[in-house]
Amino acid sequence: MIILGVNAYHADASACLVRDGKVVAAVEEERITRRKHTAGFPGNAIKACLEIAGISHSEIDVIAIAKDPKANLHGRLLEGAKRLLNPKLLIERLSVAAKAVDLGTEVANALGVPRSEIRAELVPVEHHIAHVASAWLYGLAEPAAGVSVDGSGDFLSTLISKCENGRIEKLVSVEYPHSLGYFYTIMTQYLGFPNYGDEYKVMGLAAMGKPVYLDKMREIVHLKKDDLFRLNLDYFIHHTGGVEMAWESGEPSLSTMYSEKLIDLLGPAREKGSEVTQHHADLAASTQAFYEEALIHVLKEAKRLTGFDTLAMAGGCAQNSLANGRCPQQAGFRKVYVPPSGHDGGTSVGAALYAALVRGDTVVPGLTPYLGRSVKEEDAIAYLDKKGIAWRKLAEDELLEEVVSCVSDGGVIGWVQGRAEWGPRALGARSILADARNPGIKDILNLKIKRRESFRPFAPSVPIERAGEWFVLDEATSSIPYMEKVIPVREDAREKIPSVTHHDGTARAQLVQKEMNERYWKLLQRMGERTGVPILINTSFNENEPIVDSEVDAIECFARTKMDMLVIGDLMVRRGQGGN
Ligand SMILES: [Fe+2]
Repeated sequence: MIILGVNAYHADASACLVRDGKVVAAVEEERITRRKHTAGFPGNAIKACLEIAGISHSEIDVIAIAKDPKANLHGRLLEGAKRLLNPKLLIERLSVAAKAVDLGTEVANALGVPRSEIRAELVPVEHHIAHVASAWLYGLAEPAAGVSVDGSGDFLSTLISKCENGRIEKLVSVEYPHSLGYFYTIMTQYLGFPNYGDEYKVMGLAAMGKPVYLDKMREIVHLKKDDLFRLNLDYFIHHTGGVEMAWESGEPSLSTMYSEKLIDLLGPAREKGSEVTQHHADLAASTQAFYEEALIHVLKEAKRLTGFDTLAMAGGCAQNSLANGRCPQQAGFRKVYVPPSGHDGGTSVGAALYAALVRGDTVVPGLTPYLGRSVKEEDAIAYLDKKGIAWRKLAEDELLEEVVSCVSDGGVIGWVQGRAEWGPRALGARSILADARNPGIKDILNLKIKRRESFRPFAPSVPIERAGEWFVLDEATSSIPYMEKVIPVREDAREKIPSVTHHDGTARAQLVQKEMNERYWKLLQRMGERTGVPILINTSFNENEPIVDSEVDAIECFARTKMDMLVIGDLMVRRGQGGN
């Protein structure tokens, strides 16, 4: 059976293809449109997935969409009644629902084929079931507590479920407008980071502060025994219809979601671009500490209700790698699975796998995140020649030597290998690499390419076999293939890898498995042989844009920035050696 999974009419629109229970392609729309978090319909991503998998549109049996307009009707009706007072919002909602119904036409239009050639059956999958499925079915075939912690989707913000025997059984949920995701969002906005998806900046800043305002955070959200939690809505305006959500040029933006009462509680908000003070760092630390307190509360309930040792967690909040690395253990979970794409982009995969399961296919646990488009050598050569950029083709051994030498000399390298990563993090297929031992490399990276806020950390990659020498691991963090959990750097290692050790002594490490990305694993091993440190900085290959996808994106980014070397497959380009 061939299933097309889509996340549409949400931010982070995406598509995937599942053939006989196995994910064979998955692409986020933003990689192709080159606009971050592209919302709307993932027409380009659908096209790309069909091309990658060599599947014709007429072969698709099922289209699974991560949205179910009939789900959670009770809450929807109540909210709908309130929204009758606000016709603009009601019209927006209705148009979104209408689009979801006519998905087959949207697919046909995107592919430029007659509607009659799309014979697939439409299967709506509730947003949070899709999140949970993306965590459980993608990587696991064992019983697990399935938890989705999110902003909102299909009228819920949080779901605890029991995943067992091929079924996802809903146990407890929290309805909109109460949402831990929205709590984190208002604090992100308050701290002067207004862009959609800026929450990770607060997570980075948290390490610089102390959680001295934890009591004030507890004013904003109340943890409950039976209902998990409730927002104190006095501090919010999203439930009043006063928040604008726009999709300018496909990129989502959100107007301010907090009320004046938050200013009364915490003082004046930080203006975007103004100085980040210790006060702001303390507020970020308090936000993160409270989020972790709330997550542990939710996870303890999931543990109590299911009794399982394994946790499968997704949802926008599951992108909080700091919490992922330390909260599940405190709630009693021994094994933790978070997918490479925990945010809404990942729901296309969750919806498709869930549809496969309910249609009776045997779902193949597929752990590889390398599900995107490949780069062809001849295309890369053609574009380099067109730009007049000199290149060399090297055997693997020589290529790895050159990269290690360049990195050791303080160089910054654009590294493109094989199929692009699924999810928001570069994992050694579209990465920028640098030397983790070099204390000045963060400044160089920011100067040459990234121009990020100075408080944001850079993440390391290490071969999984050698991770224990450098990082403190436990059972729940013994496998981190997707940079989805932050872990402590061993005290005796911190001085040796200063550029990836954050202010709180942690790192968002990727533990690289040979069978997942052999060339990258070999590169890290070679780095270890040559320098004694088998670790590289791995940051996404981009410059204030989505991660590069095609050879053109990579070559253009290299040409625009001051990277020292570009590697595409076996091809190597050095800056300053002809035409660049
Ligand atoms: Fe979501």
